[in-house]
Amino acid sequence: MRFSMLEKVGFSLLITACIISVSNFISSALVHAEKLESPVYPTKIVAKAAPEQQVADENALAMLSDSDAKKGLKLFKKCKSCHTVEEGGKNKVGPNLWNVVGRAKGSVAGFTYSSALTGLGGGWSYSDLDEFLAAPKTFAKGTKMSFAGIKKASDRAAVLLYLRSLSSSPKPLP
Ligand code: HEC
Repeated sequence: MRFSMLEKVGFSLLITACIISVSNFISSALVHAEKLESPVYPTKIVAKAAPEQQVADENALAMLSDSDAKKGLKLFKKCKSCHTVEEGGKNKVGPNLWNVVGRAKGSVAGFTYSSALTGLGGGWSYSDLDEFLAAPKTFAKGTKMSFAGIKKASDRAAVLLYLRSLSSSPKPLP
């Protein structure tokens, strides 16, 4: 059988088209170009930064009347490894916390504070304690209190009430 030039060109075009569409089909079957739900790296960074920001904006003080010191005592388990609470209790990794509400910041005798903490100045008001406990390293940049913070404002409210109870004359609520 002999083919004319036109037929040869036609055939080769047809075959080329076939090859292209078959290879297209195969490659799309092999490689799934699935869309990622979210870009891997940037989202992780954003997700890490965001909660801290939110915590700082949320205020536990408004929740004090809906909370109680007993719940705070339970939550204080997280703090116990570093802090004693009884009057005259020894300093551990962190200073004793008897009478901490209203006390001058960084003022427990015999405890070596970081300059981050002593540099804050003033006393421990409820609102400063709230901010500090939400994100210690944000409120006192460079503090040696290695504690991530209490994210939930309602939990902080309970801890604040517990700290308030560590006194023979608890400070009035804000
Ligand atoms: C890993 C140990 C550790 C844990 C856990 C910890 N703290 Fe501390 N805390 C410290 C250290 C250390 C300091 C002193 C910080 C500095 O000098 O920068 C401190 C300081 C403080 C201060 C300031 C006291 C002052 O005299 O000015 C308060 C209030 C406080 N912590 C409360 C808490 C509470 C409440 C918790 C639990 C929710 C907690 N801490 C958990 C180690 C810890």
